[in-house]
Amino acid sequence: MSKYFAVDLGTSLTKISDKSRKRYLIEPTIAAVDTDSAKLVAFGTDALSVIDAKPGRVKIFKPIRYGQIEDLNLGRQIISHLLKKAGHNKLGRSYVLVSTYGDSTKVQQRAMVRSLKEAGVHEVRFLESTIAASIDLNLPIGEPVGNMVIILGAGRCEAAVLSLGSVVTSASLGMGATDIDNSIKSHFIRNYNINVSTLFCGRLREVIVRDNQRFTVHNIVGYDISTGETVSVDVTAEELWGVIDEVLSQIIQGITQVLTSTPPDITNDLCQSGVYLLGGLTRLDGLKEMVAEAMELPVHTSSNPEMHVIGGLRKSLSHFSDMTKV
Ligand SMILES: Nc1ncnc2c1ncn2[C@@H]1O[C@H](COP(=O)(O)OP(=O)(O)OP(=O)(O)O)[C@@H](O)[C@H]1O
Ligand SMILES: [Mg+2]
Repeated sequence: MSKYFAVDLGTSLTKISDKSRKRYLIEPTIAAVDTDSAKLVAFGTDALSVIDAKPGRVKIFKPIRYGQIEDLNLGRQIISHLLKKAGHNKLGRSYVLVSTYGDSTKVQQRAMVRSLKEAGVHEVRFLESTIAASIDLNLPIGEPVGNMVIILGAGRCEAAVLSLGSVVTSASLGMGATDIDNSIKSHFIRNYNINVSTLFCGRLREVIVRDNQRFTVHNIVGYDISTGETVSVDVTAEELWGVIDEVLSQIIQGITQVLTSTPPDITNDLCQSGVYLLGGLTRLDGLKEMVAEAMELPVHTSSNPEMHVIGGLRKSLSHFSDMTKV
């Protein structure tokens, strides 16, 4: 029997769906690997429990960096594992539609095709994440009007102006929430001589609130770099926002560049239709207002910003053969 799958491999969250059952498989993009045999032991939430059961040989990896699979051997095992979990059966014919970034290369796409074919997949097609998201939102991208979608994720930031069924202008940055976490980590090393896990920095980013930035105090626990002892320091939200703002400004500057090369009639359309701000990082408190101010355009957000790319891929499975082949 033929099966159709949509795959969105994110730096932080992997999302998979099939055409028939309308269900989504969502897992944190974390792999537990046996370092002796280089074999994948578990993926996603299961990976975290395996590490407790088999400490030592098994190590945790984040296999996707800035939207790309870093280790092809591990990538092949992950893809095979995920498709099996989603219902792929080597005896049947499977067709897979994968999201791509604006600047992903043919070499990277061919590597993905090879991994999927080795997992027994029959045909592979690609769709740009900004197009997929706009399909999920039912934006009129086939009409002679301008539409703009921005996706801010864990490792990538994508922006595209779409009209008449194609991309008019776009930007694709290898930056995202992960860079904010790395900056927070560096801030603690530089200013307090303490080492704090990037996981902790990510949690801090998710809970920090902009409105109270002057008054809220966060207690940070880490290891003193000189002595190795556990230490804690109190920092204000205002101080942390200084670090976050620096990275956000670079991201926002990168995505607003798109408007400088957009034809004026399309920019006029955007003054009416606004910009759709998607991806998990847009949950960051105050980000919508920052983007609106920088772009001087109305900004729309979503209550489930991470799910529009996979939603659009899933909808597009009905037109699988019209999608880009590599
Ligand atoms: N409240 C929040 N504040 C800030 N960031 C958040 C919040 N909630 C979730 N995030 C971040 O959203 C990111 C996940 O979003 P998303 O699923 O769009 O990224 P991804 O698809 O994994 O990454 P990419 O597409 O960039 O490879 C994570 O980095 C997560 O920490
Ligand atoms: Mg993503």
